[in-house]
Amino acid sequence: MTAFDLSGKTILVTGASSGLGRQTAVTASEFGARLVITGRNEARLSETFRELKGDNHLQIVADLTLQDDINRLVAALPELNGVVHSTGISDLSPARFITAETIAKTFRISFDASVLLTAGLLGKKKLAKGNCSIVFISSISTRYPFVGGAMYISAKAALEAYARVLALELAPKGIRVNCVAPAFVRTPMLDETAANYSQEAVNMIEARQILGLGDPTDVANSIVYYLADASKWVSATSLVLGGG
Ligand SMILES: NC(=O)c1ccc[n+]([C@@H]2O[C@H](COP(=O)([O-])OP(=O)(O)OC[C@H]3O[C@@H](n4cnc5c(N)ncnc54)[C@H](OP(=O)(O)O)[C@@H]3O)[C@@H](O)[C@H]2O)c1
Repeated sequence: MTAFDLSGKTILVTGASSGLGRQTAVTASEFGARLVITGRNEARLSETFRELKGDNHLQIVADLTLQDDINRLVAALPELNGVVHSTGISDLSPARFITAETIAKTFRISFDASVLLTAGLLGKKKLAKGNCSIVFISSISTRYPFVGGAMYISAKAALEAYARVLALELAPKGIRVNCVAPAFVRTPMLDETAANYSQEAVNMIEARQILGLGDPTDVANSIVYYLADASKWVSATSLVLGGG
C-alpha cells in the first residue's frame, strides 16, 4: 500500500460520462477506489461504468442543473471519502452578446451545480469526517484568459473563490478542498471549443503549451494525488496543469 492507494475509499465523480470526469473515474478505480459515477447521458455513463476496474461501483444518471436530481443523487449515495466535480460546458460569448440567459446557462452548470451538490452532501452528512477530499476542476484560463471566455472564466473564478472558503469551513472536519486548473486537454469539450476558432487560433493556443495538449490521464493522475492520503496536509490550493 502506498500513499497514493485509494482502496477503501468511495469517490463520487460528476461529469463522468465524458472527458476528464470519465478518465478520473477510470484512473481512481485503477488505484483501488470504489466509484459512484454520475452524468446526464445514460449510454455514455454506462460506457464509463464498463471501463471501471474492480467491482461494487454505482452509476446514477442526473442532470445537476435540476434540484430534484441533486436531491435524488444525494439520497442514493453511500458515505463518501472523495468528490470530484467535473461537470461543465464550453461557452464562447463576446462581451457585447452576453445576456441574462448566457450568464444563467453557464453559471448553472459550471458553478451552481457544484455548490448546490456540496450543500446537499453536507446537509445529509454524506462526507466522511477525518479524511475526505473534494476536488473542483477549474481552468488555467482564470490566469491566462482567452477572447470570448468571459462567462466561462468568470464561473471558474467564482468556483475557485468558493473552494477556498469551503476549505476554511471544512478543515475542522478533516475535509480538504482543492482545485486543479488545466490548460487545453484533448476531450470532447476541447473539440467543441476549437470548432469555434480558426485553425490559426487553435495552433496559437497549442503553441502556448510548450509540452503540447494535455491527455485526460495527466489531469486524472493529479486528481488521484488530491484524493489520496499523499495530500492529507494539502487544502485550499489550485494546481495549474499548464503543459509547461
Ligand atoms: N478539456 C479541457 O481542455 C479543459 C480544460 C480546463 C478545464 N476543463 C474543465 O474540466 C471539466 C470537464 O471538462 P471535459 O473536457 O471533460 O468536458 P466534456 O467532455 O464535455 O464533459 C463534460 C461533462 O459534464 C457533464 N454535464 C454537462 N452538463 C451537465 C448537467 N446539466 N448535468 C450533469 N452533468 C452535466 C457532461 O455530462 P453529459 O455528457 O452526460 O451530459 C459531461 O460528462 C469542465 O469543468 C471543464 O470546464 C476542461
